[in-house]
Amino acid sequence: MRETSLVIKGGRVIDATGARPADVVIDGGRIAAVGPDLSADRVLDAGGCVVAPGLVDLHAHLRQPGLEEAETVETGSRAAALGGFTAVVAMPNTTPAVDSAAVVREVQELGRTALCQVAPAGTITVGRAGTQLAPLAEMAELGVRLFTDDGRGVQDTRLMRRAMEYTTGLPQQVVLAQHCEDEGLAAGGHMHEGEWSSRLGIAGQPAEAEELMVMRDISLARLTGARIHLQHLSTGGSVAMVRAARADRVAVTAEVTPHHLTLTAERCASYDPVFKVNPPLRTDADVAALRAGLADGTVDAIATDHAPHTAEAKEQPFDQAPPGMLGLETALVLALECSGLPLEAVLAHLSWQPAAIAGLAPEHGGPVAEGGAAHLCVIDPEAGWVVDPGASASRSRNSPFAGRPVTGKVRHTVLAGEPVVVDGEAQR
Ligand code: DOR
Repeated sequence: MRETSLVIKGGRVIDATGARPADVVIDGGRIAAVGPDLSADRVLDAGGCVVAPGLVDLHAHLRQPGLEEAETVETGSRAAALGGFTAVVAMPNTTPAVDSAAVVREVQELGRTALCQVAPAGTITVGRAGTQLAPLAEMAELGVRLFTDDGRGVQDTRLMRRAMEYTTGLPQQVVLAQHCEDEGLAAGGHMHEGEWSSRLGIAGQPAEAEELMVMRDISLARLTGARIHLQHLSTGGSVAMVRAARADRVAVTAEVTPHHLTLTAERCASYDPVFKVNPPLRTDADVAALRAGLADGTVDAIATDHAPHTAEAKEQPFDQAPPGMLGLETALVLALECSGLPLEAVLAHLSWQPAAIAGLAPEHGGPVAEGGAAHLCVIDPEAGWVVDPGASASRSRNSPFAGRPVTGKVRHTVLAGEPVVVDGEAQR
């Protein structure tokens, strides 16, 4: 039986090629036509809205397998779709870790019925233990394009060099993504080391714990020619080093999170672990440097680091609670509000640029044009709402933005031609 065709009507299309008013017809999972006054069996209204390639998150913790009480691929992907994402890279710090072909297959299988495409990241080292390389080639053969021990950085410099040399020899183009943290220097720190950690009596970790590994990995990438991606950068020093490295043609890309663009260490004064995250919330000067990095192209992507945790885990004292915050449903609106970028540039950082880094382009993030994959989101830039973690599709509730009035909302999300979110409601 022929699928019903769909038209997204009355919107302004924005993609990497520019902006224009147009209707978009979708048939058989792909874009059939883009232009004025189009019709189809079913209409999705996009009046007053922006129609864009679906968002792509380079950094989501979906917690499956093993930590299903905090999130599942299904609930996390529903939160993603509600946030406008049509693809997410699922972090491999699950239980067991995604460090073998078998666990990659398991996550891919779970992703088949998800509300967005789920691209599993593989670990760089076995069990994220930092001592032995994981079977990167085997995982790459299954389609894995991004490797990371996220939650931990690879501490052993020699092993990281070997990982870089090894990946440059693979037939697939893959990227090594680093959680930049020198564990020796960060040890015991639960927030940013500075004025607020002193005032609050909470042990801190200095900016240098991140920056040392940024510096090391840029050096190793220069040495090996490998392609690296630096995750959730949080300090001005890190951004400055990436800027210099790129000017020097090192193959390094970088991401920042909405929370590091928005919040500072001062929030920890409430002693509420909802503000505990790793890397920690920093200073006003760091926030300004991250925004400047986005504006001048040093930082390629805004990635959520969506990190769900159960209420039991997050209700522990600050120094015992795990780090992490929800992010998928609020990323777009916070990026619009706090990045200092116009909508077009926000979409570049949330869609086509991360899609390219993750090896998901042009299926995701590609131009809204005839023949393209119908992974799209429709955004109402004027719609106001209030962040309510209780209403989140996530299994967890740990959003630091609860009660915040925001402007800009995802109205519809279309995955391979299927409207998975319509008028802000998930359809399954
Ligand atoms: O805050 C964080 N939470 N940072 C990480 O690197 C890991 C993540 C998690 O898995 O909860």
